[in-house]
Amino acid sequence: MPASARPLRACRSPSLKGMATVPGDKSISHRALILGGMALGETLITGLLEAEDVLNTAEAVRAFGAQVVRQGPGGWKVNGTGVGGWRRPEDVLDFGNSGTGSRLMMGAMATTPVTAVFTGDDSLRKRPMGRVLEPLKLFGAEYEAQPGGLMPVTLTGAGQAICVDYTVPMASAQVKSAMLLAALNAPGRSHISQGALTRDHTERMLSAFGAEVSVEPLPGGGETISVMGEAELKAVSVAVPRDPSSAAFPLVAALILPGSEIVLPGVLLNPRRTGLFETLKEMGADISIANERDSSGERVGDLTVRGSVLKGVEVPPERVPAMIDEFPILAVAAAFAEGPTVMRGLEELRVKESDRLAAIVAGLRAAGVTVQELEDGMVVEGCGPGGVPGGGTVTTHLDHRIAMAFLVMGLASRKPMTVDDASMIATSFPEFETLMGGLGAIIETTAG
Ligand code: S3P
Repeated sequence: MPASARPLRACRSPSLKGMATVPGDKSISHRALILGGMALGETLITGLLEAEDVLNTAEAVRAFGAQVVRQGPGGWKVNGTGVGGWRRPEDVLDFGNSGTGSRLMMGAMATTPVTAVFTGDDSLRKRPMGRVLEPLKLFGAEYEAQPGGLMPVTLTGAGQAICVDYTVPMASAQVKSAMLLAALNAPGRSHISQGALTRDHTERMLSAFGAEVSVEPLPGGGETISVMGEAELKAVSVAVPRDPSSAAFPLVAALILPGSEIVLPGVLLNPRRTGLFETLKEMGADISIANERDSSGERVGDLTVRGSVLKGVEVPPERVPAMIDEFPILAVAAAFAEGPTVMRGLEELRVKESDRLAAIVAGLRAAGVTVQELEDGMVVEGCGPGGVPGGGTVTTHLDHRIAMAFLVMGLASRKPMTVDDASMIATSFPEFETLMGGLGAIIETTAG
């Protein structure tokens, strides 16, 4: 645990009430900055997530030569260099905790002849980078990494890039996106295929910035995305919708605290991100959506959530990519449900900010919940009307979502739940404590 660790304790709270305005979507925020940095002209971003992960990406885009200026809360202006116009950064690029920021930026520079050094915190330096770096070699990029493909990584973009046909072997939107971004400066058309339907924000935003992108379904499921290289990206305005992965925390808190009623306005409802909402509805959650509308090519809506009696379900494995970041909080909801919840196809959770599967299982056990860990998933035995015992301390392993999930658990468990370090919450949801407190949640600092 770092010296600056910040333990927090969540205690049994009254029903939650009020408006939960969560911050901008993290995935879309990274992409808006990166595409803005590669476009010609001035990209105006509103609603940008101003959390550590995204601020590190802003800094990196600046280091490659784009102008990135904050104009006010969530309002940013990016003057890009044009595709292929990035220059060599003067210093090492530190992406902190962010897999998305670092992997997408590797792709974005891989077909421009510059060299950059990528590093990150203790969590990011344990995460596999070979999954991005190896396929980027197909474009002509070269790299040096630590044993096992770990950071720090030195990447040199291709001098004479070539277009590629590549099938992404795992269900990762980061790898897919890195390849699509690299394809932008490789002459000819690149084809990137994937068996799983992972989040498609890069494809959507590339089209909005004027790139020639097409998507074809594959006969056995999945799809092929084709991108025309030597693209000219033109600056646009991007209104970032609110993050469903952050909304998930107050939402589940409201579900498990009887009598709660909260409203979450302007949440992104892209179907490749809403797997948790679908699953919770199958569990009996009272979630209604109003005022569905379009925002910068993405679907958004206002959610109303009321305290609900939940029952265990089996999550269809094909839904996993649409809720890949939501398993920590789904496991918490499952602990309060009646009956078992079965989650499989979660192998990717082993390489997130922590081995998330192991961290969830350990956290549930610390709270007195029965759980079976599988190689690729888990079965959570819901505590039903008896309630979740609680009273444990959870190790967060530098993982923001483990910290937030188990704090939510403590709001409704019989005894409080403590997390050993809540500092990483600032990587994605700096307002978490204030927002939850505003709804009535009791979350307090502890002496440790
Ligand atoms: C993301 C993709 C997912 C997700 C991450 C954000 C993105 O990661 O877990 O939080 O913005 O592309 P993987 O690509 O590793 O699945």
